[in-house]
Amino acid sequence: MKEKLLLIGDSGQLGTEWRYLFEKRGIPFTGVSSDKLDITDRQAVDALFDAERPDFVINCAAYTAVDEAEDNPELAMRVNRDGVRHLAEASARHDTVFVHYSTDYVFPGKKEDQSRYPRGYDEKASTEPVNQYGLSKLEGEKAIRETTDKHMIMRISWLNGVYGHNFIKTMLKLSRTKDEIKVVNDQFGSPTFAHNVVRNTVCLMQHGLHGTVHLSSGGLVNWYELAAEIMRVADSDTRIVPVTTKEFGVKAPRPYFSKLDTGFIRTFEGSRIINWQEGVQNLLRDPRLKLD
Ligand SMILES: NC(=O)c1ccc[n+]([C@@H]2O[C@H](COP(=O)([O-])OP(=O)(O)OC[C@H]3O[C@@H](n4cnc5c(N)ncnc54)[C@H](OP(=O)(O)O)[C@@H]3O)[C@@H](O)[C@H]2O)c1
Repeated sequence: MKEKLLLIGDSGQLGTEWRYLFEKRGIPFTGVSSDKLDITDRQAVDALFDAERPDFVINCAAYTAVDEAEDNPELAMRVNRDGVRHLAEASARHDTVFVHYSTDYVFPGKKEDQSRYPRGYDEKASTEPVNQYGLSKLEGEKAIRETTDKHMIMRISWLNGVYGHNFIKTMLKLSRTKDEIKVVNDQFGSPTFAHNVVRNTVCLMQHGLHGTVHLSSGGLVNWYELAAEIMRVADSDTRIVPVTTKEFGVKAPRPYFSKLDTGFIRTFEGSRIINWQEGVQNLLRDPRLKLD
């Protein structure tokens, strides 16, 4: 890539994966996270765009605390809707391509949707978030579509990678000290893996895709089955005990079914969809994976 690249949110799990790719390949870029740029500050966003004049902005910044968002819906909206609008408006002014990530949690996730969308929700399926985080992410999507046509919104689900916090790392850490871990078995979807997200985003950027696209891994799984597979691959004796979401007790409602259909992304030459089991194996074998 010879274009000028601006990476927003470069300290999170996905942002750090992007930073790793750029640094490994010697690709020049400017990376910022909330200590250098608060995206809710419109003037600061404008000033950065004026200084950088990027060809592409890759936005990994988001308010991602799903349960906390139920108590802080205004903060979630400020970051995920207003902050994203600031980035989209600055992108429009500078004719910048805006690459953004959204979530499976924009969908209602009703039980009956599993038979209605047997391959998962496609890009045209109706949205109806069940929690504040999902609502704020959907508002962010709308802000982008209203503001600039030169955008790519990639919806991803259940993100895991070597950096930051995620389910797989949490399970591995807990397995060091616990004989058994309770995990919910009534939420179905498919994880995405940060390395694979970056790879597919690069592919679609090279194709010049503008619009919305879904990415998840192949296969359908619940969190209990995912945890059991993590223990198997890690050769851990920790027992995974299935519980319902109600028994587990979390603040934010969760979709029952939130698999994303990958039919559209598969039509792009060079895209690569891995099965969720392959993703788990790759992640656990990645020498960059550190649990402390
Ligand atoms: N995690 C998942 O399971 C999941 C699932 C589906 C979709 N997604 C989406 O994927 C994207 C990446 O998620 P992630 O898991 O990598 O997120 P993450 O690890 O929580 O990282 C979030 C990033 O956003 C930055 N940030 C937060 N508030 C900010 C603000 N006001 N101004 C500027 N930067 C701010 C953080 O910076 P600091 O570190 O400095 O606070 C951090 O770099 C997000 O759009 C998320 O909604 C995630």
